[in-house]
Amino acid sequence: MKIIKSIHRMKAVSREKKRQGRSLGFVPTMGYLHEGHLSLVRACVKASDVSVVSIFVNPTQFGPNEDFKEYPRDMLKDAVLLEKAGVDYIFAPQPEEMYPPAYKTYVEVHDLQNRLCGKSRPAHFRGVCTIVLKLFNIVDPDIAFFGQKDAQQTIILKRMAQDLNLDVKIRVLPIIRDKDGLALSSRNTYLDQNQRQAALVISRSLEKAKEMFGCGLRNSEQLLNIIRKEIETEPLVKLDYAEIVDPRNLEPLSQIKREALIAVAVFINRIRLIDNIFVKTEEKE
Ligand code: PAJ
Repeated sequence: MKIIKSIHRMKAVSREKKRQGRSLGFVPTMGYLHEGHLSLVRACVKASDVSVVSIFVNPTQFGPNEDFKEYPRDMLKDAVLLEKAGVDYIFAPQPEEMYPPAYKTYVEVHDLQNRLCGKSRPAHFRGVCTIVLKLFNIVDPDIAFFGQKDAQQTIILKRMAQDLNLDVKIRVLPIIRDKDGLALSSRNTYLDQNQRQAALVISRSLEKAKEMFGCGLRNSEQLLNIIRKEIETEPLVKLDYAEIVDPRNLEPLSQIKREALIAVAVFINRIRLIDNIFVKTEEKE
């Protein structure tokens, strides 16, 4: 495995591999890797001749009062995990090269970027789309892997890829959870023991809603009330939003006819955690 830091070098390597007719798989990350990231990495290694994982804590997707500075970083440990997983290249660019002082260009996916997490993180998806498009242009992958954990991110990036006629195929893989149900996240490291215990209410509330959906409840307001009530049982956890939306366009659904994305974001102190669950009616309905 090689670690590449310069954009020029990454472009040269990827162009050479493509010229040799080899398929290139790509997993963009912000590092501090856990099993969620590694599930994408393993799928990538399996599906492609050459695998590239980027590690870059992208400043443009953090708001002015968010955790860019404190975001956990451990390049050495990440490199060991990626080497073990059989990755060929880590791309770890320097912020000054990705965003030089004269930098002026941003990518926006209108409407979708303002929904769900976009309401409390107004410039977040603009930063995500900008960095992912830049990474796609540099790495030039055939397939890129993303996690369902960030459901809105995957929907927006798919829209961007289609709208801008990108050739890259976007694969989305399931959420990886701890045994107790908590969705893995690099931000879980901020939680102390009490907060981590309280955070279990997030997945529990989604499971409750799913269970009621399974019993035939289709009214979104009633399903959302189940989630809100469950979250309220944990005084440490403050709901940012709970929404039931159409997974294709993130439009709120008042009634679930076929399928829906149930998405939740909470604050535990200043720590923001997200989770979601997908529900679908049986074919016969
Ligand atoms: P990051 O939070 O590091 O996540 C990298 C990828 O891992 C994303 O596709 C995310 O959805 C996936 N992931 C995170 N936790 C997961 C879990 N528990 N189960 C499955 N997949 C999980 O998402 C980003 O970085 C950034 O926004 C990025 C796309 C790299 C752009 O900067």
